Amino acid sequence: MKDIVIDLRNRELISTRSISSPKYAKRDFKGILVLNGELVLRTAKLAEDIQKFYKDKKLVLLGVLDGSVHFIKDLSEGIALPIQRTFIKVSSYRGTRKSGKLEFQLNPMIDLTGMNVLIVEDIIDTGKTMDALIKELNTRFKPRSIRTCVLLDKAEKRLDQFKHIKVDYTGFYIPDEFVVGYGLDYLDNYRGYRHLAILKEKVFKENDNQ
Ligand code: IMP
Ligand code: MG
Repeated sequence: MKDIVIDLRNRELISTRSISSPKYAKRDFKGILVLNGELVLRTAKLAEDIQKFYKDKKLVLLGVLDGSVHFIKDLSEGIALPIQRTFIKVSSYRGTRKSGKLEFQLNPMIDLTGMNVLIVEDIIDTGKTMDALIKELNTRFKPRSIRTCVLLDKAEKRLDQFKHIKVDYTGFYIPDEFVVGYGLDYLDNYRGYRHLAILKEKVFKENDNQ
């Protein structure tokens, strides 16, 4: 059966005050978009679908650091196959972000040549990162197959030139807001927060003034 992506684009936020949250959460977050339990449940469903598809194949999960760490931990626990798992770190060159040039800061510890690779990303936005990553992996390693799994998709933000990118497994569609927690960051902060929260505008403004 075809998976239906959970659409949270019109969801009301949950107050950080309604569940136990650290002080900074109350100060810096507008509210919670997805609770940790919901993230974990949805990830288990994706894991089940992945397991079905790869049951007779050798699979390498390739996590994109740092954002995918929480997601890939829960995802790989849910796949009842002896899969391999490795990581890559990618970042845009400072100052040339718009060009979409990627810098590989870490080479995967497993040779991906001839492997079935499933890219595991925290979020897809314009599509620039995913597009460049797929191209780079194809030229550098020539994997047998490359497919994609993302927890969050800001579908509205996809640039026309990247609309062709196929996301094979998607957790949630989310609104065009800046989200943090469950591995996702703002200036490397908030990655350890359990839930997925939306950042207050004033946090961006405070940092712009520094
Ligand atoms: P894209 O290249 O525009 O698709 O952006 C993807 C990358 O931008 C992700 O891998 C994230 O690192 C980052 N990103 C985009 N939106 C958010 C967000 O709301 N919170 C945290 N990081 C984000
Ligand atoms: Mg990322």
